[in-house]
Amino acid sequence: MSKFKSLPGFREFYPEDFAERRFLFQVWRQVARRFGFQEFDGPALESLELFKAKSGDEIESQLFCFEDKGGREISLRPELTPTLARMIATRANSLKRPIKWFSIGDNFRYERMQKGRLRCFTQLNADILGESGPAAELELLALLVQLLQGFGLGADDFLIRLSDRNLWMLYLEALGFADKSAAILEIVDKWERISEESATEKLVGLVGDSGSSLAGSIRAFLEVRNLQDLKTAFESASEEAAEGSALSERLDDWNCLLDGLEAMGIAQFVEMDLSIVRGLAYYTGFVFEAFDRAKENRAIAGGGRYNGLVRKMGGPEMPAVGFGMGDVVLADLLRERGIMPQFVDTIDAYLVIGGDSERSVALADASLLRQSGFSVDYSFKNQAFGKQLKAASASGARFALIYGSEELENAVVKARNLSDRTEQDLPRNQLPLALRDLLA
Ligand code: HAM
Repeated sequence: MSKFKSLPGFREFYPEDFAERRFLFQVWRQVARRFGFQEFDGPALESLELFKAKSGDEIESQLFCFEDKGGREISLRPELTPTLARMIATRANSLKRPIKWFSIGDNFRYERMQKGRLRCFTQLNADILGESGPAAELELLALLVQLLQGFGLGADDFLIRLSDRNLWMLYLEALGFADKSAAILEIVDKWERISEESATEKLVGLVGDSGSSLAGSIRAFLEVRNLQDLKTAFESASEEAAEGSALSERLDDWNCLLDGLEAMGIAQFVEMDLSIVRGLAYYTGFVFEAFDRAKENRAIAGGGRYNGLVRKMGGPEMPAVGFGMGDVVLADLLRERGIMPQFVDTIDAYLVIGGDSERSVALADASLLRQSGFSVDYSFKNQAFGKQLKAASASGARFALIYGSEELENAVVKARNLSDRTEQDLPRNQLPLALRDLLA
């Protein structure tokens, strides 16, 4: 056991762990490409200012930040979105819209360690910029569904909870608390984790005596599951707001999005649930999170609309919406469901070498085969045939290519199929071709 332990919350990936990681990345990439998203990346280190200004208080307290040797205040990135917004702001005029970009990369948050939460985790980010209508949300929700389906998860396994900060603003305005909306939404964000009494206490602390009736109104809003419930909630808050044009315009967006989900055949994966308000500071409209149905894990993915961020980065007005999906909760869930594939690294051929006199011929062939695109391995030392054949099986090779003195005298190598033990001679002067046929 080494006395140098890796830091808490930072993982090491042994080959079998890395194979799982590669699998997650492959599905992420494949599906994102299927939806026409282009891959990009940004720097892992940024100026501290970028995140202080843009990500919000909760993330600010979790930054891995320090001063570099040049005296700059810098931070490892806790998320990609501020970087993305800056990159878009820089080239906004030359980028063709809608911009559909994705990225896979590590993020760093100094979090309290718990299930599903590490201090270094990998996120897939997918974002659409330049589209202000709900067509962008629809595309991202469809992507999120197909990503999770790509891992073998179905409607019984996960649910996307769809909410809307616009509706919350309208509702709090209707209740007469527009000026305290940010602080109230912070309490709503924690509603599921703290008891209702302590939420009510916080509301009373914030708005005085009317805090307990506000808690009742919030509870009613949290129970909304469809547009009819929503209308009722607004009617009890304020007749005027319920009939107002702001609400009716927003309902048009909701109808458009819900119809789109039906048309794409994914409505069963999405539920209206206003308990999602999202902790990050920049969200402005629809917000959503994906959870396992049993809600045994933290969110698998989360995101929403952030229309003001590109402008705050010095760019033009640029509507934007996106989500991040972390690898930790996702991998936990796949393991819990027993659907994380078992990975065995395989190679095409393992060369079994008779001795010193056959070694140089075998090495020449190893070079040629590798150059021709085959994966090939062999023992570094002279060893008994039996031992080398064992190593060949352990390596996951499909064929052992046997370089004995007799074979080489006849200008062949013997290929042994390591699963059915059948053997056949391959001509050495056409080895790549012969091996290709054998593997086909
Ligand atoms: P987020 O909700 O902070 O959003 O993170 C998205 C996902 O990343 C979470 O649902 C979770 O799966 C994973 N995640 C977050 N923190 C940790 C952690 N400490 N350990 C393991 N996994 C974690 C964002 O980051 C937004 N920037 C997403 C976004 C993109 N919004 C718009 N575009």
